[in-house]
Amino acid sequence: MVSERAIGVFDSGVGGLTVLKELCRQLPGEELIYLGDTARVPYGTKSPSTVSRYAQEAASFLTALGVKALVVACNTASAVALPQLEARFGVPVFGVIQPGAARAVQLTRTRRVGVIGTEGTIKSSAYTRAIQALDPRIEVRTTACPLFVPLAEEGWAEHPIALQVAQEYLGGLGLGDIDALVLGCTHYPLFKTILGQVFGPEVALVDSAEETAAAVARVLAEGDLLRRSPPGPHRFFVTDVPERFERVGGAFWGEPLVGVKQVEIG
Ligand code: DGL
Repeated sequence: MVSERAIGVFDSGVGGLTVLKELCRQLPGEELIYLGDTARVPYGTKSPSTVSRYAQEAASFLTALGVKALVVACNTASAVALPQLEARFGVPVFGVIQPGAARAVQLTRTRRVGVIGTEGTIKSSAYTRAIQALDPRIEVRTTACPLFVPLAEEGWAEHPIALQVAQEYLGGLGLGDIDALVLGCTHYPLFKTILGQVFGPEVALVDSAEETAAAVARVLAEGDLLRRSPPGPHRFFVTDVPERFERVGGAFWGEPLVGVKQVEIG
């Protein structure tokens, strides 16, 4: 039965574990398969055609394992590759852009929304399009925060340096009078404390991971695709040796990652 199959989740590396964690929290009865393309991370600085090719290779790997749905945890891949994935693979495909955009539209009162993400995500304007498709009156202000990814991977998301970097990127960029900020990158939910300090309580931080997991839960329930039998253990695959993923990923995942397997894709 299709409902008894696992959900496939992929990202460029460890960051997508923030999405996986939310899926686990909101869908505890599901079995999850995670692929981190650690051999080719980062996606955020690469061209749309390269990211799209990588995303299709990751999706091919997961669909070959028989997943019932695909979650593109990577914002950069969601921004540039979603239509190709939806056209090519015969399972529901969830990106992280649409759910985050929809939540920001719900939350904003001033109709001024900020979006932060990788260079690739910001250049694609995917969030701006998604937000303005829902409400064209909303002004969207965007900026890339490339140093957030290495800071998070270093375990420095709450370090004073991270606060300084956040103030530098966000302080003077006209994000000043927004009332909702979309955390448009897998790594950025780790900066919620610091972003809360920079923006204050009147700016709602929109976590794309939470919104995406909620969208997956809703669609699976509507399609009668929720698993009925007890789930097996989650499985983790990476495209480079697992050591770094296990070490850095443990912090994203909240507990040690075990049994991570290295595979070749593409
Ligand atoms: N996963 C990427 C994203 O959400 C961040 C890391 C990368 O650049 O690959 O955009």
